[in-house]
Amino acid sequence: MSTASLEDHWQTLRLKVENALNAYLDNLPPECPDRLREAMRYSLMAGGKRLRPVMTLMACEACGGDVEAAMPAACGIEMIHTYSLIHDDLPAMDDDDLRRGRPTNHKQFDEATAILAGDGLLTLAFEVIAKGVQPPKVAAACVADLASAAGSEGMVGGQMADLQAEELALAANSEESGGGSTLDQLEAIHLRKTGRLLRSALTMGARVAQSSDDFVKILDHFGKCVGLAFQITDDLLDITGDATKMGKAVRKDADHGKLTYPGLLGIEESRRRAEQLIDEACRSIAPLKGVEDRGQSLEALARFILERDH
Ligand code: IPE
Ligand code: IPE
Ligand code: MG
Ligand code: MG
Ligand code: MG
Repeated sequence: MSTASLEDHWQTLRLKVENALNAYLDNLPPECPDRLREAMRYSLMAGGKRLRPVMTLMACEACGGDVEAAMPAACGIEMIHTYSLIHDDLPAMDDDDLRRGRPTNHKQFDEATAILAGDGLLTLAFEVIAKGVQPPKVAAACVADLASAAGSEGMVGGQMADLQAEELALAANSEESGGGSTLDQLEAIHLRKTGRLLRSALTMGARVAQSSDDFVKILDHFGKCVGLAFQITDDLLDITGDATKMGKAVRKDADHGKLTYPGLLGIEESRRRAEQLIDEACRSIAPLKGVEDRGQSLEALARFILERDH
């Protein structure tokens, strides 16, 4: 698929996701306080690449499923991702003031509201999937998939490990903390804090399409490679990126003593790793491409991750 047609397709799917997300917020019952709804909407509708939901829709398509059927799962994962960003930006975590080109949720509202807006999105995600995905057996499989990806063994666990690694590095005052094991530790953090959600985006798409276990496994491996590469490019963009394009502050990771790929391996080697991972990801979905050339848009999406500037 050419870059131009990927962009068109991505744009079409992105708009569908935006409309569906808006509708979920509009349909929150009146018991939801206005301020909470406003804070949830503020971050959820602030733009963003919508990479995860678009991946869910593309994975569903690649497995021969219907895009609309995957919309609740796509919206659910974007809600989880947005909640993770709201909490990631809190003063007790990365302490950031800018997100998706706007003041962070706690800057716009206040810390307590930001915590609750995150909680509201986290919970709504599971409600939307449980009620919206059909048949109920597939809904339950998606809920279980996303819960383990988002929870203590996945994203939340990765965030904890990320903060602990930062504390250790700061305590040791950036002392040499040893080669191989630190790299393993870093990979384990990235695979959880970012990788697990991307994997789940893909496997939920395959589940909605009621794909074979083999295809779920193929997409899981694709997601693992793409997820790790995505966080490597995020770490690279913290060094080389432009805050306006990124919509968030850059050049913060080093000051915070974050354990990152470029911090450990340098820019060139990190870029090489990301390229290798994307190559492996694209090779791994070859079996999908054998079926009516499906999977082309996923491949193009994976390639975008290397070239992205935001
Ligand atoms: C940022 O994710 C957080 C990471 C996991 C690196 P994105 O770069 O996908 O953020 P949005 O959704 O486009 O704002
Ligand atoms: C965050 O990683 C990953 C999440 C689970 C939110 P970062 O802390 O590097 O993300 P940014 O750079 O703030 O977007
Ligand atoms: Mg963080
Ligand atoms: Mg952060
Ligand atoms: Mg970052």
